[in-house]
Parts: sequence; C-alpha cells; structure tokens
Amino acid sequence: MFYSWKRSQVPIKLPIKISKIDNLIIFLICILISIISSYKLLLISPLNLSDFFSWFLIFCEALISSWILILVSKKENPTITSRQIILIITLLLVIQAMKLGLASTISPLSIIIPPALIISQGMGSITALAWVSIASLIWPDSAININNNLFFISLVCASVVSVLGGRIRSRAQLLQLSIFVPIGAFLSQWILIGKDKISLFDKQEFVFVDGKIFSDSLLLAIVMLFTILFIPVFESIFGLLTKARLLELADKEKPLIRRLSIEAPGTFEHTLLICGLAEEATRIIGGDIDLIKTGALYHDVGKLHAPNWFIENQEGSNNPHDEIDDPIKSAEILQAHVDEGLKYARKNRLPKLIANFIPEHQGTLRMGYFFQKAKEKNLNINESDFRYKGPIPQSKETAILMLADGCEAALRAMNVNASDKEALDTISNIINTRQKDGQLDNSDLSFGEIYLIKRAFLGVWKRIRHRRIQYPTSKNNTFS
Ligand SMILES: [Fe+2]
Ligand SMILES: [Fe+2]
Repeated sequence: MFYSWKRSQVPIKLPIKISKIDNLIIFLICILISIISSYKLLLISPLNLSDFFSWFLIFCEALISSWILILVSKKENPTITSRQIILIITLLLVIQAMKLGLASTISPLSIIIPPALIISQGMGSITALAWVSIASLIWPDSAININNNLFFISLVCASVVSVLGGRIRSRAQLLQLSIFVPIGAFLSQWILIGKDKISLFDKQEFVFVDGKIFSDSLLLAIVMLFTILFIPVFESIFGLLTKARLLELADKEKPLIRRLSIEAPGTFEHTLLICGLAEEATRIIGGDIDLIKTGALYHDVGKLHAPNWFIENQEGSNNPHDEIDDPIKSAEILQAHVDEGLKYARKNRLPKLIANFIPEHQGTLRMGYFFQKAKEKNLNINESDFRYKGPIPQSKETAILMLADGCEAALRAMNVNASDKEALDTISNIINTRQKDGQLDNSDLSFGEIYLIKRAFLGVWKRIRHRRIQYPTSKNNTFS
C-alpha cells in the first residue's frame, strides 16, 4: 500500500552532486559577476550612504539572479554537469565584462543573442530564456544610454533565438536562424528606430559604427555564424548534447552502427524494434524522443565483442553457453556486453547522456536463466553474482529503454494470433516485475506514465505483429 502511494506521487529527483571545488569555482564566478555588475556605483565621489546602499542592492541582485539561473538550469536539465553550469555563468560573466568595454560601440543585439543561441542549443529554451532575462536586466554601467526600442528589439530577438534554438534539429536550420534573425532585427530597427539612420548605399555605413542599424544587423549575422561554427567545440569541451549532434549520432551509417548491422545483425534488428517501442512510449509521456532514439541505437553495441553469445545472432547454430555449461561464466559474458559497450562509447566519444543508456538499460536486473541453472547445479553462489552491476535507470528515457528491452523479446516470441489482452498482460507482467524489483525507483516515472508506456507498447505491437519475424524460442533464452 505504501509502495503504491509512493509511486503514485510525482517523484522528486535528487539534486545532482557537485564537487566542493566546482561549487567554489561557481560561487567565485557569481561573485565576479556581481562585482563587475555593481562596482561602478562605488566609483562615485563623494560616496554617500545611499550610493553605497544602491551598490549593495545591485550586488545582491546580480548574485541572486546568478543563483536563480543555476536553479533553473538544474530544474530543466536534471543531469546537468558542473562544467555546463560553469559555461552558463561564465557566458554571463563575459557578457557583463563586454557590456563594460563594448556596450557603447556594439549594439546589445550582438552581445546577448549569440550566447543565448549556445545555451538554448545545449541546455534548452527555458535556461536560455532565464539567461537572456538576466543578461538584459543587469547593466553594469548605468551611464550607457541604450535606446529603449533597441533594448526591446534585442530582448525579443534573444527570446526568439532561445525558444527556436531549443527546438532546432539540424545545422541547416541553425544557419537559417542566423540569417532570418538579423533580417528581423534590421526590419524592426528600421520601423521602430527610424529610417533616417540607414544609408544602404553609402559605403561608409558598412563599417560597424554605433547607431547604424544595417551594420548592427550585419555584425549580428556574422557573430551568429561564428557561434554556429564553434558550437561543435562547445559540444566536445562542455559535453553539450544538441539536437543536431543527437541526430548526427543517430545516423545508421556511423561506423559503430554499421559494424553492429554487419557483425551482429540479430542485435541490430532487436535495436531497431526497440527504437520503435521506446520512441512511441517516450512520445506519449512527453519525454525526449531524439535522446531515446539515439540512446536505443547504441544500448547494445557491447554485444559486438562476442555477437554469437547472444541468441538473436545465433540463427539456429549451436549456443556456446550450452557448450561451456558454466552459468557463472555465462553471467560474466552477459555483464561484459555492458562493460564492453562503455568501452566502445569512450572510444567513439559518445556523449555521457548516450553512454548512460548502456549500463542503465540493464540496471541491476537478475540474469534469471543462468541463476536458475546455477541453483540446479547446486553451485555455491550469491544472487548478486547473477545481477548486472547497474546503476538502475536514472532518467525516464533510460527506464523506458529498459522496459522496451524487456518487452521486445517477449513480444517477438509471442504467438501471431495472440489477442490484445494477452499482449497487454505480457507487457504488464514484464514491466511490473521490473518495477517490483526496484529498477524504476530512480527514474522519475509515475504510475500514470507507466500505464501510458504499457499502452504505447501495445500500440506498437499491434502495428508490427503482421510483419514481425519470430525468434527461435528456446528455453535458454539469452536475450539479456
Ligand atoms: Fe542489453
Ligand atoms: Fe537490448
């Protein structure tokens, strides 16, 4: 009863752990942001109490804003790393410093929009919007007089970039954004600030002079193009996982996936079917579809180390597990598909969020068949020797993959004439067993979502049952 109550509540994810050193670095950067944003107020002479008070207010405002920004980024990205938090606040620090040095010569458009693009691509729209509002609100030099209309245009353009940047799925769309946003900014400035400041046909106006709205927009386009060029660098240094990178990794022509399709065709087929199941379930609960599609593609690459030890690649030939007749060794071979998978992930520089699918899709599941066999042989064994080393799924997506992985083999092996109810019962049994085993405890999946996942799997099964291939169903099922 208590378990059911606990699972029916919206789960609360434990906050990510950040090392003391990283916390200190983050804190120091926030202090620097506050100092840069407020120190000019202390340079007034003579300094009276009210000046000191306004300095203190701005200092606290900047500090609290940075803290809120960090909270928002953690909320939007539960798996955010300290490196990525450092990137977000360092960008804020750089922008505050640039405002001091360049705000009188460069329009705020070119200062605020490019970092918003990087953050929206790597950390999502909400974090980018929070960053844009803080970067737009806190100006370190009150003497800089920005045209209100220009400020408004910058805020709108940066917000548009933040929202679209979080959704964009290809580099080509990014390029379109870097062309259309400057054009939009140019037209808005033309309408709101005035036509008198443009001299399109005067060569002198093509240089970056303050107040020249054509050169402002041109500079914005150039800076955005450079930002797009450097996004892959940010991806590798800060471990950002942009949509474009995810889709590139999901390309089936990638060498590792090609190898899987040639050397372990059974595993490749299993992977493709899992992609379908997992994608549908993720869509129905509103998860990250691109992430799970790519994660599913790489989840079993570790089987490349010994493809014929897994039944889906045996095609009726002898099962080597029968030949060695050693359940402990067989369990080690199953565990090796996780360990080797992580090695492949490192070698191929897969992002951490994708590599997480490799151990988490197996969690700490028991290798039931070999455990049973060891018990029959009266071997002196521990149950833990027949469990995968984990960790259990830490996100909704890796949990869905674990469930899809479990259901795929069973659904394939099911009779072609099975009714919907039989299929749903099979799915429910597998999912409930994993749930009771505690495999979903850290995944954030609620009861309602688990119900929706079962329905989604049933929907996919109904779609594919007429064209599915049956696995050889043997007792020594080692689908893992
Ligand atoms: Fe696996
Ligand atoms: Fe699998």
